[in-house]
Amino acid sequence: AYPFYESLRQHDPIFLMSQQQNQSSWIITKYDHVKELLKTQSFIKDQSKLFSTSPHDTPQDEMTTIFQNMMLDVDPPDHTRLRKLVQPYFNPKTIKNLQPRIEDIADLLIMEINNKKGKIDLINDFAFPLPIIVISELLGVPAEDRNKFRRWSNTIIAASDNMATDFVEDVQAFTNYLTRLFEERREEPQDDLISNLLQAEEEGEQLNRTELYSMIVLLIIAGHETTVNLIANTMYALFEHPRQMERLQEDFSLTENAIEEGLRYYSPVDFSTARWAEDDMEFHGKHIRRGDLVLASISSANRDECKFEQADEFDITRKDFQHVAFGFGIHFCLGAPLARLEGKVALEKLLSAFPEIRLDEQRQEPNWRAVFLLRGLENLYVNID
Ligand code: HEM
Repeated sequence: AYPFYESLRQHDPIFLMSQQQNQSSWIITKYDHVKELLKTQSFIKDQSKLFSTSPHDTPQDEMTTIFQNMMLDVDPPDHTRLRKLVQPYFNPKTIKNLQPRIEDIADLLIMEINNKKGKIDLINDFAFPLPIIVISELLGVPAEDRNKFRRWSNTIIAASDNMATDFVEDVQAFTNYLTRLFEERREEPQDDLISNLLQAEEEGEQLNRTELYSMIVLLIIAGHETTVNLIANTMYALFEHPRQMERLQEDFSLTENAIEEGLRYYSPVDFSTARWAEDDMEFHGKHIRRGDLVLASISSANRDECKFEQADEFDITRKDFQHVAFGFGIHFCLGAPLARLEGKVALEKLLSAFPEIRLDEQRQEPNWRAVFLLRGLENLYVNID
């Protein structure tokens, strides 16, 4: 993908991906354009505003409704109201308080890995459980149900590529699960995000029932799918660049930098989510029509040589960190402080516990997941002794 993006940046930075009579789809690949797209208010998220028959007039499946009410997929003022409700839980200061707990979880996982010895799948045994346990505890959903969340999240994400087979069943199972959990929490509120959101829903003004489901589904999915990839992609980049791995092991004060470089170099979110042009407009020489779909390629922006020197080099001592791995503008990732902290703890703990960690020689070819929006590995087999 990276050579393809490079050629688009040079020859056709606002790329017409598909064209139909009433609607075209575009991919934006240059860093400056991507930032401009993400902050311009006339590229909106709620597509239903653009068509005369509102989707609200026609019956919809449950998942469409859940997606349409996620804060990621709505515009102000709804976006502002929903984001304000959860923002306090994800501020850098609040997140910093989670550090000891994140470290404990990492230690626990490392203990389990130690019992296995030899060859392990770093994703299954570490990069996946760490963030899903953390976000489950923060929300107040039982962490032992994490394999269910993994299955449901995978189905929902695969659905963005139309690959899902068990989609309807899985979505139903997910919402049924949440309905039961909400009942339990209503009877016995706890000191967690779900109990507080339930209270806000009962009071009626801040969010409605559908938005409540949407929020929890969004936080569960966004809270782990991407961070798994941050941890695994950065470790993979370090394995690919042994000199960089050595530098980090000599000096752990570079860990935060290494995480930022991992975010830039193998951006876990490859594309921004969909935006729609609210009006006809000229965008850097291309005519974009009302209703056109416009996607920002985050991966491409983060390798733009006009912005980053030696953009295709992985260099954990780089200083120019203004990547757009977490997006930009009003939808800038809510979980960025949490993801950064989890990434830092993960790398430090792994590399201190297993200084000899290396890619499994028999399985060095990376198997990237075939998912359009995300960049992540299916497995990452390593030797630890
Ligand atoms: C939004 C990336 C981790 C929650 C976003 C966006 C990006 C992103 C690119 C903006 C999408 C767009 O504008 O179309 C990432 C990456 C992560 C990560 C690379 C990890 C390395 C997390 C975590 C959470 C989270 C741990 C946990 C709560 C969210 C939410 C939004 C969001 C709720 C929507 C914000 C809004 O619409 O205002 N993320 N994310 N993310 N992310 Fe993350």
